[in-house]
Amino acid sequence: MASDKSDPLRKYVYRGDPLAEPPPPELSAIFTRHRGAPDALITVLEDIQRQYGYLGQNHLQYLARQLNFPLARVYGVVTFYNLFRLDPPGKHQIRVCRGTACHVNHSAAILSHLENALGIGVDETTPDGEFTLQTVACVGACSLAPVLVVDEHTYGRMTPDAAWRTLTALDEREAAA
Ligand code: FES
Repeated sequence: MASDKSDPLRKYVYRGDPLAEPPPPELSAIFTRHRGAPDALITVLEDIQRQYGYLGQNHLQYLARQLNFPLARVYGVVTFYNLFRLDPPGKHQIRVCRGTACHVNHSAAILSHLENALGIGVDETTPDGEFTLQTVACVGACSLAPVLVVDEHTYGRMTPDAAWRTLTALDEREAAA
């Protein structure tokens, strides 16, 4: 039988309810904690993001269906607040501090250098899934400005070149491990 990929009507074929299966247990546990709390939408979203690192399309569909929120309202909230992510984060989170102390110590140059070197903008992830680049307002290490945070590690008195060396050293350490 010929493949149905060439069938122009293929896109109209009903493929079943993607949410027919119950949500995974960890997601169900989040819903159970917040069931019957109509003002808890943001808290539910935060819990899901903490669990998975981002908010997947199916997470949001399950949320809407299980807790009776209109899906449009769920997406409205997710896209309004920039703390929510709709894509999986990279393996390493790179945060360039853009607080006042870091700003006056040229953190913009660090950010611009990393954007060019990684080929991505702020809040984007490299195509290989290695790095997500973000900014942060202040990490409480102003005496070390300008500051770069890589995953849980804080690096002070950065320059554009030192920031890039920090990332490449991370790659080299992983390749050698
Ligand atoms: S402003 Fe960057 S650590 Fe405070």
